[in-house]
Amino acid sequence: MQTLQVDLGERTYPIYIGSGLMARADLLAAHIVGRQVAIVTNETVAPLYLQALKQSLAGYSVTEVILPDGEAFKNWETLQLIFDGLLGARHDRRTTVIALGGGVIGDMAGFAAACYQRGVNFIQVPTTLLSQVDSSVGGKTGINHPLGKNMVGAFYQPQAVLIDTQSLTTLPARELSAGLAEVIKYGLICDEPFLTWLEENMQALLSLDQQALTTAIERSCAAKARIVAADERENGVRATLNLGHTFGHAIETEQGYGVWLHGEAVAAGTAMALEMSHRLGWITEAERNRGIRLLIAANLPVVPPKDMTPEHFLQHMAVDKKVLDGQLRLVLLRDLGDALVTSEFAHEILHATLGADYVALVNQLEN
Ligand code: NAD
Ligand code: GLY
Repeated sequence: MQTLQVDLGERTYPIYIGSGLMARADLLAAHIVGRQVAIVTNETVAPLYLQALKQSLAGYSVTEVILPDGEAFKNWETLQLIFDGLLGARHDRRTTVIALGGGVIGDMAGFAAACYQRGVNFIQVPTTLLSQVDSSVGGKTGINHPLGKNMVGAFYQPQAVLIDTQSLTTLPARELSAGLAEVIKYGLICDEPFLTWLEENMQALLSLDQQALTTAIERSCAAKARIVAADERENGVRATLNLGHTFGHAIETEQGYGVWLHGEAVAAGTAMALEMSHRLGWITEAERNRGIRLLIAANLPVVPPKDMTPEHFLQHMAVDKKVLDGQLRLVLLRDLGDALVTSEFAHEILHATLGADYVALVNQLEN
């Protein structure tokens, strides 16, 4: 087992990474305060992992909250089901909420833990690659609003993140690729040598090689922990973790939550950020192509939806959380491995990026 740490003063917490960690009752017990535990999971993950986790919680009074599965359920109505479960079983302020599932479960269970009796103990047990490399670390929790993705929520750090890499063996291929979009993100924003490692190991990752997956998770979590420790509340460098997300969130909101997976929308958004960085003259054509090829190698979409016009994009991008005083800010690349957040770009270049012919670009890369 590998242990990393998110350094946040008195809210510092460990990230445990290893195979079979759900069976480690001792790791869980070290982060539970009272005798009550509520496991929040969903209809897909419960049959796979709920019993295994419960076995490690023998001796505690455990409430199961099993939510419907999907991004479309990341909303107020579903959040209310968590409070129904907690109050129905009379959970007190010393209860511990455990999120067992992907990013949707982690974001919702974390938000519920932040709100329930003004804040209770919270542990993340992420089971998708995306949640293991990104959403379970850093304390962003929340739900979607019909007008904007992740627009309602709280910063609320967990007591621990327990990553059992064995859970990835049941993950559908499409979800694995979605997670790789966020893994590639770390290479693009802050770790150029990691891009080379990913180019050399993409096939191993896609075939669920445990060694390769563990390396990718460790390297991604280390980057995220470093960035979160430097800027917990996203006043600066943390915003670079949103590479491709402003374009991607527009795709998710416009298409309807769950139609494109979050990681897929981020991949197409990242291709757009690469294209815009190239149009601004900050990265070369070869560097843009390198980034897009890596996304394609991970079986990710890099062409935005055909029916989305620049106007559709601009309408949704106007409610992005990085908008300050009405001014749109984007995460772009000064270089591969070097991201910045900026509003200093000509509107014509943004417009041209939104309307660029990504189908032709992919054809050119494939020939
Ligand atoms: P998800 O939670 O919807 O999980 C994807 C699918 O995989 C679901 O159907 C789920 O039930 C299923 N699943 C989960 N674990 C499984 C397993 N081990 N085996 C088989 N199936 C399994 O999606 P996700 O990609 O994990 O997370 C996306 C969400 O995370 C989005 O809502 C996004 O906004 C959020 N997010 C949050 C942060 C953050 O910092 N909080 C960062 C990135 C993404
Ligand atoms: N996923 C972006 C962040 O955690 O800041």
